[in-house]
Amino acid sequence: MDVPLIELQKVTKNYGSHAVLRGVDLRVRPGSVVAIIGPSGCGKSTLLRCMNFLERPDAGQLFFRGRVLGEGAEILRAHRARVGMVFQRFHLFPHLNVLDNLLLAPRVVRGEGREEAARSAHILLEKVGLSAMAGAWPESLSGGQQQRVAIARCLMMEPELLLFDEPTSALDPELVGEVLGVIRDLAEEGRSMCIVTHEMSFAREVASEVVMLDQGVVIEQGPPAQVLGNPQHARTRTFLKRVLEHSRE
Ligand SMILES: Nc1ncnc2c1ncn2[C@@H]1O[C@H](COP(=O)(O)OP(=O)(O)O)[C@@H](O)[C@H]1O
Ligand SMILES: [Mg+2]
Repeated sequence: MDVPLIELQKVTKNYGSHAVLRGVDLRVRPGSVVAIIGPSGCGKSTLLRCMNFLERPDAGQLFFRGRVLGEGAEILRAHRARVGMVFQRFHLFPHLNVLDNLLLAPRVVRGEGREEAARSAHILLEKVGLSAMAGAWPESLSGGQQQRVAIARCLMMEPELLLFDEPTSALDPELVGEVLGVIRDLAEEGRSMCIVTHEMSFAREVASEVVMLDQGVVIEQGPPAQVLGNPQHARTRTFLKRVLEHSRE
């Protein structure tokens, strides 16, 4: 069996006296897509943030390609570079145009030359369907376009693992499809990723595995047809019913 790309063992995270993650085990195999679902406040964002060490777990271990992640600023910097994250609210740099949003990290973190980085940037903008927008300002773009720029920017660092935190939740419904389309293409390329999403039909189609988190614990996981189609846990059933009702509103 493949060594997991990333593996979490008994990860816990507290904010003050609030236990947000209470011993989470999670594995992402190379080339797989793990969809993380669960009610608001159950710890999904915190879990993703622990995976790239935007948050430091209080206990438990994190392995990358079978090796435990050590301490130290240099190791963590390298880890963050190979784990890319896309946020709900895009977080583009408002004072930089689209091209410069893409160039910043490779230039600053890797010291890449402008021309070399710009070549990669144009290829990635084409991939997300925005080659005509290189000179545009973020505020002039729709939410769907901004999120596609954010995805291209994330890809500039050639991450080995992509983390998406509700990438379409801030979008108008008619813009959701264009962003999911880009993520679907990335999945088809065999990229490894974790996606927190409430788009259940998308999860069912794209995910290799669905993980249901509730109150900081994984209560159920397995293939989408199993977890979404035939959930074993009452809380999974209740949650899915609520999401379905909401999506019909
Ligand atoms: N930086 C923080 N400081 C204190 N509490 C936090 C912080 N981040 C998240 N929380 C709390 O942790 C819980 C889980 O949050 P989060 O991981 O964002 O959940 P989800 O993404 O599933 O909605 C929530 O109760 C939230 O209020
Ligand atoms: Mg969240």
